[in-house]
Amino acid sequence: VSEIRVVFLGAPGAGKGTQATLLRQQASVTHFSTGDVLRRHRIEKTPLGLQAEACMDRGELVPDALIIALVEAELATTSMFVLDGFPRTLSQAEALDTMLATRCMPLTGVLFFDAPRDLLLRRLTARWVNPRTGRIYNTITDPPRAAGIDDDDGLPLEQRVDDTLETATRRLDVYEQQTAPLIAYYTQRGLLTRINAAADIEDVAAQVRATIPALQRMETHR
Ligand code: AP5
Repeated sequence: VSEIRVVFLGAPGAGKGTQATLLRQQASVTHFSTGDVLRRHRIEKTPLGLQAEACMDRGELVPDALIIALVEAELATTSMFVLDGFPRTLSQAEALDTMLATRCMPLTGVLFFDAPRDLLLRRLTARWVNPRTGRIYNTITDPPRAAGIDDDDGLPLEQRVDDTLETATRRLDVYEQQTAPLIAYYTQRGLLTRINAAADIEDVAAQVRATIPALQRMETHR
């Protein structure tokens, strides 16, 4: 059985969520976005949602212990996945390695979505989302048919509270400090493929598709 277990690594606005949504339509993978799961917890006002709220609104990371427990629970039920927005620190990366080693399910690859900072900021501040389905738009590069309205359900789109210029800038700083070291971590393990994430959405999707054969590997541990 060919299995895909991949991490989408990249700064806020690099297009991880956009591309994970496209990939899950082509390959039968579970798309697990820690950001989306945390936002659902906030809407439902769960203890995790309440604990995560202040960090997220400041553009800071939620504490590792909370995130690791969340991912551990999720990964217990799937062997094919795209992790979008996790890991984001070295401790999270090490915890992921341990979780997967216990189940003899190593990562089959890491795609690093690389784009310059000024482009990322422009994308984040022009993003609109459907909070009901997670569909992502961009007023400049990928607008809905009618401004502010979702193409599918006809209901209003929203901007994320952390997509203001100030908070998006903070998120990019946090990425540089805490997440960018993972590029070296996964390069050393021979897992990293760079994607030119500054290209348009279709072009990036083609780059991602081209990596699928390398991401699939024969499952030899069963
Ligand atoms: P999270 O929701 O993960 O946000 P993020 O990593 O900041 O990523 P984004 O969703 O902003 O960007 P993306 O790369 O998915 O871009 P998208 O495809 O939407 O995290 C939010 C918060 O949750 C964090 O700040 C933190 O507090 C917490 N959190 C989450 N995970 C955590 C963890 N592991 N540890 C600790 N805390 C955690 O695209 C962006 C825009 O660009 C869209 O408008 C899109 O239409 C457009 N676009 C995309 N691709 C292209 C393209 N190729 N060309 C033109 N436009 C494009």
